[in-house]
Amino acid sequence: MLDKFPLKTLEEIAAKAGTPVYVYSADVLLRQVRAYRKAFPEALICYAMKANSSGALCRLLAREGLGADVVSGGELFRALRAGFRADRIVFSGVGKTAAELDLALSRKVLLINVESAQELDALEAAARRRGVMARVSVRINPDIDPKTHKFISTGRSGTKFGVSFAEAEIMFRRAAASEWLFPSGAHMHLGSQIHSAAPYRQAAAAMSAFVKRLAAAGIKLSYVDMGGGWGAREGAEMAPPAALARALAPAAALDGATLVIEPGRSIAAPAGLLLARVLYTKKSGRKDFLVVDAAMNDLMRPAFYGSRHPIVPLRPRRGSAGRFEVVGPVCESGDFIGTDVRLPRPEPGDLLAVLSAGAYGMSMSSNYNSRPRAAEVLVAGRSWKVVRRRETDLDLVRQEC
Ligand code: LLP
Repeated sequence: MLDKFPLKTLEEIAAKAGTPVYVYSADVLLRQVRAYRKAFPEALICYAMKANSSGALCRLLAREGLGADVVSGGELFRALRAGFRADRIVFSGVGKTAAELDLALSRKVLLINVESAQELDALEAAARRRGVMARVSVRINPDIDPKTHKFISTGRSGTKFGVSFAEAEIMFRRAAASEWLFPSGAHMHLGSQIHSAAPYRQAAAAMSAFVKRLAAAGIKLSYVDMGGGWGAREGAEMAPPAALARALAPAAALDGATLVIEPGRSIAAPAGLLLARVLYTKKSGRKDFLVVDAAMNDLMRPAFYGSRHPIVPLRPRRGSAGRFEVVGPVCESGDFIGTDVRLPRPEPGDLLAVLSAGAYGMSMSSNYNSRPRAAEVLVAGRSWKVVRRRETDLDLVRQEC
């Protein structure tokens, strides 16, 4: 994967922009988009902004004609600013505030994915206040196990997401009877990092049966949104999305309805890496540690989900390989970027690339330990530019009053 990023360019970036730094490849990003396009020529592809909401990346995706899946007023703001068309934006999320619902209505987003009966009431009230009809989509929890990490498994009953089919039907009938609501879509999202098409096949069949039943009751939907979650293994690009398209075919074939999908990780993850520099090497007990200048505040996935991102030296040294704990400077033993990583023994000053970090890397970063956030760089061909400068110490206190 490192071969997607010219070595000299990476070294130059580290020297000039400093480390830790997120480096994104426009070429790899757009290749994923085109693969989706090819597999889903008719669908509306709404990029899940939460994976990586960096303006530079989002502008590229908006220019490609993608829509956006947003989950907060902030993401909606960033999506519109990046140039995503409002009529290609879907707004999901289990706890939208009245202000966020109002914002979504004022910007005329395509769909608001409502996740509870009370949210439907709140949306109706917001629509009435504005004197507009709200296009409603109900997020259904189909109780399907996507067989992924429990923190990113959302389509099972007993999680906070969506409502059951039975409750959704009541909500659609209620929307159809309202002066201010218009039933427009149905939504599902099973989870993230799903590597098999089987759960999608099951979801599409259930969705298709449900939408047909609604149509028979006189409620015809225009959009069927099957969410995101198609996996991209750490260190690899996504599995061909044709398999996903085949699994979702029953949902795509519904009379008069457009299929919507919301991929995030599979588009952004392979397009990014985190570049870090080795500060020190040390031993503790029987373990060999590499202390690097990136930490859990920069990339939280290993600490939070136990995810294993490949870590590769830019210039592997000759000699014997060892097994290392790759850790950051944050004061927690949970602060690691990789454990038991096999590497040719590096020296302080060496550069390491942490792969598959384009999704849920920068977007989940924090200032923990008062560490300024990393810079972001976009590479296009052999040229590169900083698209978000490294935060400074002053940035850490700027909001304080
Ligand atoms: N649509 C909805 C409603 C979602 O909640 C999500 C992700 C997506 C689409 C996009 O899923 P993707 O294609 O990116 O898998 N922080 C975790 C992932 C959390 C995903 C949450 N929802 C991680 O780093 O693995």
